[in-house]
Amino acid sequence: MWVAMARTDGTVLAERKTSAGDYARFLHAWIRKPRQNGSIVPSSPYLGRLMASQIDPAGGRVMEFGGGTGALTREILATSLPVDQLEVVEIDADLARGLRRSMPGLRILETPAQAVAGHALGGVGGYQCIISGLPLLAFSKQLQQDILSEAFLLLRPGGTFVQFTYSPRPPLARSVAHALDLEVKKIGTIVRNVPPATVFSYCRAGERQLA
Ligand SMILES: C[S@@+](CC[C@H](N)C(=O)[O-])C[C@H]1O[C@@H](n2cnc3c(N)ncnc32)[C@H](O)[C@@H]1O
Repeated sequence: MWVAMARTDGTVLAERKTSAGDYARFLHAWIRKPRQNGSIVPSSPYLGRLMASQIDPAGGRVMEFGGGTGALTREILATSLPVDQLEVVEIDADLARGLRRSMPGLRILETPAQAVAGHALGGVGGYQCIISGLPLLAFSKQLQQDILSEAFLLLRPGGTFVQFTYSPRPPLARSVAHALDLEVKKIGTIVRNVPPATVFSYCRAGERQLA
């Protein structure tokens, strides 16, 4: 259980714990579609904080892929990134509804991450970072490639795609990273998460220094 603050339109929402309802909603989503959800419990705030540390709060637009019950979202907003600079993609209707309810004012895109560009306010090349909670390891190579292609359409030069995984190894198939000319960097491992998770950051080859 934990506490975090989310800001919307300059106001601070009430401090909020991951509620019993969040756990139940998350578990139901897993029961409905285990491969799409990938986990039976939301990420910990420690994992969320490490992922959010890859954002520059004054650096422009951020998109989150796979918002779930908002575990990473709250840590992204806690960096002081303005709420109008964040868009959250969540394919599951029930989870998307929960996010709209708990974080009014935040833009939730109820669409597949692999087809989100047409809905993104920042447009092509308009994002500094994509924070992804998608269960990439459970996805086919084709779906991984579709999602990462879409992500790097949205990211500006030097932009980063930040992903956690429950494996100590990078989550993206090597052939997919090669096909898209991406390089990967390990950010760190969080043991205070169920299960422990490792965070990786991808960028276009040779562009890391632009980030
Ligand atoms: C492992 S959960 C992570 C949720 C949350 N970010 C967290 O860390 O607790 C993965 C989430 O991604 C969503 N998802 C799966 N595939 C998706 C897709 N193609 N497009 C958008 N969201 C997707 C699922 O519905 C689920 O909410």
